[in-house]
Amino acid sequence: MNKEDLSAAVRQLCQEKNAIIMAHYYTRPEIQDVADFIGDSLALAQQATRVDADIIVMCGVHFMGETMKILCPEKKVLVPDLTAGCSLADSCRAEDLEKFIAEHADEKPLVVSYVNTSAAVKALTDVVVTSSNAKHIVDQLPQDAKIIFGPDKNLGNYINSVTGREMILWDGACHVHSRFSLEALLALKKQYPDAPVLAHPECKALILTQADKIGSTKALLEYTKTSSAERFIIVTESGILHEMQKACPDKEFIPVPPETTESIGCHCNECEYMRLNTLEKLYACLKDEAPEIEVDAQIAKKAVLPIQRMLEMS
Ligand code: 13P
Ligand code: SF4
Repeated sequence: MNKEDLSAAVRQLCQEKNAIIMAHYYTRPEIQDVADFIGDSLALAQQATRVDADIIVMCGVHFMGETMKILCPEKKVLVPDLTAGCSLADSCRAEDLEKFIAEHADEKPLVVSYVNTSAAVKALTDVVVTSSNAKHIVDQLPQDAKIIFGPDKNLGNYINSVTGREMILWDGACHVHSRFSLEALLALKKQYPDAPVLAHPECKALILTQADKIGSTKALLEYTKTSSAERFIIVTESGILHEMQKACPDKEFIPVPPETTESIGCHCNECEYMRLNTLEKLYACLKDEAPEIEVDAQIAKKAVLPIQRMLEMS
């Protein structure tokens, strides 16, 4: 089937099965175009609690499917490719975090985890945050609280800088966001002095010092819609350019390249996990109602609490 036929067949299956498709901004353009709802991590979690469907297909990465399943245990949550992981979530194993928390036990720390974590890590967490609400939530925690923040040290550093906190940071990072080239960014700024730099807080501190706007994918998208600028330099995964270009067809979006492409065998700032979501796999997953996300009941029971806390505090 060609792309158009496949997209039509996907929509037909959604109708027959009372299914909805949720997609993250980093997925392939054809996936975003066929989705019922596109969002950042916070919007996707919020939307999950509102949907009236029997099946949710989460086109994103594994932890996003898990978050949906934890929030909607009665629904069937499908993901087109179960192997769509996340280097950031993988940088923090639950057993290692448990030891880390134990090492700081005498300080009675609050554990704040980025949503890019496994369900088992969320089960060890007091409150989950996303890049949209991290500052807002950390600001609400008691001033004298010791906070462990993980797994993204770049986001953690950024939140420390804007809240004045000294959170203890887990040493993790996203391989896509930590490899942007500062040199290339500076050259682009020189070439396009009128273009504001929009960066995701998962980028390294040196990149963030060059940004005019730091925010979640949704916040960056909103900025492009309301700004009077005609072009923008974008420092996040390049999938977001599709939605930006759709929302602002007359504006120009310039992606910053990674530091090196040779050693990683990658030619752009794409998250290879997000790109595992293809139209073919989406169609097969709806047709077969598999693969399905399962979360251990004991873990889900604990993990739902910090996610709900996040939704209440957002
Ligand atoms: P947001 O969409 O919440 O900004 O997160 C970015 C990300 O890396 C998702 O994996
Ligand atoms: Fe994970 Fe980075 Fe991919 Fe986001 S872009 S899913 S943080 S690996």
